[in-house]
Amino acid sequence: MPDNIIFSSDPAIGLKSFLDQKKYSRLMVLTDENTLRLCYPMIKKAVPPHEVITVKSGEEYKSLGTCIKIWDDMTNYSLDRHSLLIILGGGVLGDMGGFCAATFKRGIDFVLIPTTLLAQVDASVGGKLGVDFNHYKNHIGVFQVPVLTVVYHGFLQTLPEPELRSGFAEIIKHILISDAELWQEIKTLPLKSQHWEKLITHSIAFKTRVVNEDPREKGLRKILNAGHTIGHAIETHLLSQGRKIMHGEAIAVGLLAEGFIARHRGLLPQYDLDEMTAFILKNFGKVDFEVKEDEAISGLTLQDKKNKGNKVLCVLLEGIGKPFLTSAC
Ligand SMILES: NC(=O)c1ccc[n+]([C@@H]2O[C@H](COP(=O)([O-])OP(=O)(O)OC[C@H]3O[C@@H](n4cnc5c(N)ncnc54)[C@H](O)[C@@H]3O)[C@@H](O)[C@H]2O)c1
Ligand SMILES: [Zn+2]
Repeated sequence: MPDNIIFSSDPAIGLKSFLDQKKYSRLMVLTDENTLRLCYPMIKKAVPPHEVITVKSGEEYKSLGTCIKIWDDMTNYSLDRHSLLIILGGGVLGDMGGFCAATFKRGIDFVLIPTTLLAQVDASVGGKLGVDFNHYKNHIGVFQVPVLTVVYHGFLQTLPEPELRSGFAEIIKHILISDAELWQEIKTLPLKSQHWEKLITHSIAFKTRVVNEDPREKGLRKILNAGHTIGHAIETHLLSQGRKIMHGEAIAVGLLAEGFIARHRGLLPQYDLDEMTAFILKNFGKVDFEVKEDEAISGLTLQDKKNKGNKVLCVLLEGIGKPFLTSAC
């Protein structure tokens, strides 16, 4: 596990021992209205005198417009290059707050305290920061890592169940591409009884290993896109029709669809596919499409960022825990 990630049974203690060793000139905490109410009280006392900026929650606010507000507040509060931004929130705040810190006065330090399951197991690892632009997701951004990430699974207690399930899809993805043994464990347990601490640690360790080997996504890191080639296309298609779907739900469908392709190609054993299907349907239910929508969805896979030329790249499984990247999905 990298030195800049700590797991803490009390996020205030982890944060305080870090801040005690540093001499930041000014401190600012970034929250949204939910993390201000539900999470900030748990860290407030650990942070020496500081300012709090609160922005509205939701992907629609992950924009340059919100960055301008954050940069304004940083400027008005006279943050200098020796200041620290502490980001307390889900993936939206982590991506956007990290981007604001990484670009303010050519970059100031930031701490991530991820408060959703998705942010803990995925968004806070790997250094990708940014905002959406003109309806393109994560279109403007940079790579930069936080000076510290504090992981506290107790934040999940207030997380609404759909958010928990959405993050769980990324955990399932990590396990399907890396760990047949852990798959045997999670597949027997309902959502509420999963061992979150163990699963979060596993996901962070696995993603960190992959990212360290391939920080700029030239090769290996692409396996983290399992379920995402088709999942993203489904998410984009449904959202464009005004039909709500959470990212994790779309990824769950994508994992199954890519599982069917792997089976069709004689890669994934039928037994493994049956287990995946049963588990994913039990946790996520079904998403309805009409047959005529297939064309729009497969058209959207051509837009995937992993593609080379007009070949659709996707990650197929040769078995649980055995991913491989291939073309013409
Ligand atoms: N940088 C990366 O590598 C990476 C990877 C995956 C996803 N992402 C990004 O992450 C974002 C999605 O993140 P998310 O799923 O965390 O969504 P989010 O940040 O929008 O949080 C979801 C909701 O949960 C609320 N919330 C946060 N913590 C809470 C808590 N402890 N209790 C109650 N409510 C809480 C938030 O206020 C928000 O309403 C997307 O923008 C996506 O692009 C980035
Ligand atoms: Zn994802």
